[in-house]
Amino acid sequence: MDAKKSLVTVLSNIVVLLLAGGATVVQACLPSDRAALLEFRSKLNEPYIGVFITWRGQDCCRGWYGVSCDPNTHRVSGITLRGESEDPIFQRAKRSGLMTGSISPAICKLTHLSNIIIADWKGVSGVIPSCISNLLFLRHIDLVGNRISGVVPADIGKLQYLKVLNLADNQLSGGIPWSITRLTSLSHLDLRNNYVTGAIPRDIGRLKMLSRVLLSGNKISGQIPESLTRIYRLVDLDLAMNRIAGPIPASLGGMSVLATLNLDGNLISGEIPETLLRSSISNLNLSGNLIAGRIPNTFGPRSYFTVLDLSRNRLQGPIPASITASSFIGHLDVSHNHLCGKIPTGSPFDHLEATSFAYNDCLCGKPLRNCGK
Ligand SMILES: *[C@@H]1O[C@H](CO)[C@@H](O)[C@H](O)[C@H]1NC(C)=O
Repeated sequence: MDAKKSLVTVLSNIVVLLLAGGATVVQACLPSDRAALLEFRSKLNEPYIGVFITWRGQDCCRGWYGVSCDPNTHRVSGITLRGESEDPIFQRAKRSGLMTGSISPAICKLTHLSNIIIADWKGVSGVIPSCISNLLFLRHIDLVGNRISGVVPADIGKLQYLKVLNLADNQLSGGIPWSITRLTSLSHLDLRNNYVTGAIPRDIGRLKMLSRVLLSGNKISGQIPESLTRIYRLVDLDLAMNRIAGPIPASLGGMSVLATLNLDGNLISGEIPETLLRSSISNLNLSGNLIAGRIPNTFGPRSYFTVLDLSRNRLQGPIPASITASSFIGHLDVSHNHLCGKIPTGSPFDHLEATSFAYNDCLCGKPLRNCGK
């Protein structure tokens, strides 16, 4: 009887062990995640490097190139496929990776994704599946450097944890969705070099975490929203090469950490706000606009410019004397305006060449011709 009892105990222990063994099998990726990944893969074609060669076997959390899983839930949490990479897998093929195909909506079945990085493949086309706005754990979307067309999904604002949205260097059209102003975690917005139209949402200033807003090389119109100047973390504002009109908000010059302001190649009018020239901005390009009036005589020791490009506008009057009080001016360009008078002399000017001052009405003095008299 006792022997039988202990046999039962041993057997039940074995059952427990088997169940525990079963539990370790559960630690592989979920079959539904695996199926979604394979469906995602089936819409892409990458013949040169073979990034998908490793996508085989049952456990998509182990050894599948570019796939990462949450260590606790074993759900797929990231897809990271970069066409230009230091990774050894790229040494198999020397040519920079060309992946074609499109991003399958199957990606939306990976409900625990926090990163989608499919960057610099040059050839991935098609649209951004609109269902990605249901992937509520997304923090990082980076599709830079492909041929993706269509629009930024209108519902993108549902992604309340999204920190990085980089869709630069694609063929996106349509407007910046209004819902973007609900992405309160967003710190990095990059839509450069697409065909984006329409205005910058008026309420963009709600996005208090933003530090980089890069929208250059699109067809954006409307004015620079005043609310932008209330994003006190903003370091880099690049709106160059668009169709932005209206004045430069004076409050841009009062932003505490703004370092780069590129507004070149737009239809900006009005005058240069006085505060802009003694602000935290060290990289200022206003070239190629319709800016008129005088250059404000408000330079001072706080003025530190690695680049100060005011060329190709309608500026009049002299180059202000206070400019020599600047602590540094690396590259100055005031060419193609209507400036007149003697070029100030002093330390920030010693290294400048005549081309910096060319094509004005009547500038004179070093490095141009003598003022005579
Ligand atoms: C300023 O912008 C213009 C027009 O986009 C560009 O040609 C120029 O190189 C820029 N200036 C500097 C110093 O980068």
